[in-house]
Amino acid sequence: MKEKPKLTKLPQHVAIIMDGNGRWAKERGLPRLAGHRAGTENIRPVLEACVEYEVKILTLWAFSTENWRRPEKEVRGLMRLLRETIKRELQELHEQGVQLRHTGRLDRLSPSLQKQVREAIELTKDNDRIILNVAFDYGGRAEILAAVRRIIQDGVLPEQLDEALFSQYLYTAGLPDPDLIIRTSGEFRVSNFMIWQGAYAEYYITPTYWPAFDEEELYQALLDYSQRERRFGLTSSQLATQTSLI
Ligand code: IPE
Ligand code: IPE
Ligand code: MG
Repeated sequence: MKEKPKLTKLPQHVAIIMDGNGRWAKERGLPRLAGHRAGTENIRPVLEACVEYEVKILTLWAFSTENWRRPEKEVRGLMRLLRETIKRELQELHEQGVQLRHTGRLDRLSPSLQKQVREAIELTKDNDRIILNVAFDYGGRAEILAAVRRIIQDGVLPEQLDEALFSQYLYTAGLPDPDLIIRTSGEFRVSNFMIWQGAYAEYYITPTYWPAFDEEELYQALLDYSQRERRFGLTSSQLATQTSLI
């Protein structure tokens, strides 16, 4: 990694749609769950690479609101993997200064898993090396509906509601929007991921399946990002005088 050219522009917040575990396993004649396990084991090296590249927030999408409709055995396996991974990794993540967050619904997880997630968040809340935000039971439409319900409950008046206030009602309240969204395994779709927050994100899609997505792949995504011009609806010459936006 040391010989590589320095990246000129870095995303503060990288989000990854970790797709392709099933196909990775199938290619090797393994059950889907073996792919999910390999995918989980890939989290630490990618997180460490993000720390090296000074990415401040890494969001990983591990389970969607739609994934509940998968076969019961697979869903149970994914829940077990979440439980095992927190148990195995928490202490070391904490020692390394990782702040854990969760984005999505917690209430549909088992009470013991909910407790485990809450305790992990509480334990690491003052860490500031990197934020690892795990999107689990997350879906963008459900998130927006939940926000609208709470806005109505709070009696917010139509004229009070603006984009900044709306954002505070989302699961990601307090986090900046992702600058770069990476999707592994080659699908060109959003699949209901951060449909509000990703409004101006740069997208990067790689054919590599998530368990095989490594530091080199991450570097390629970051390099691609650093070469893009983000315009936010402005012209190039306007941007030249408004560097704070870039
Ligand atoms: C992503 O891998 C993990 C989850 C959605 C839980 P998939 O399980 O979707 O893998 P493919 O897309 O079938 O290869
Ligand atoms: C998106 O992948 C969800 C996660 C990566 C957690 P899916 O495999 O569920 O998405 P589709 O079904 O290909 O759109
Ligand atoms: Mg998939």
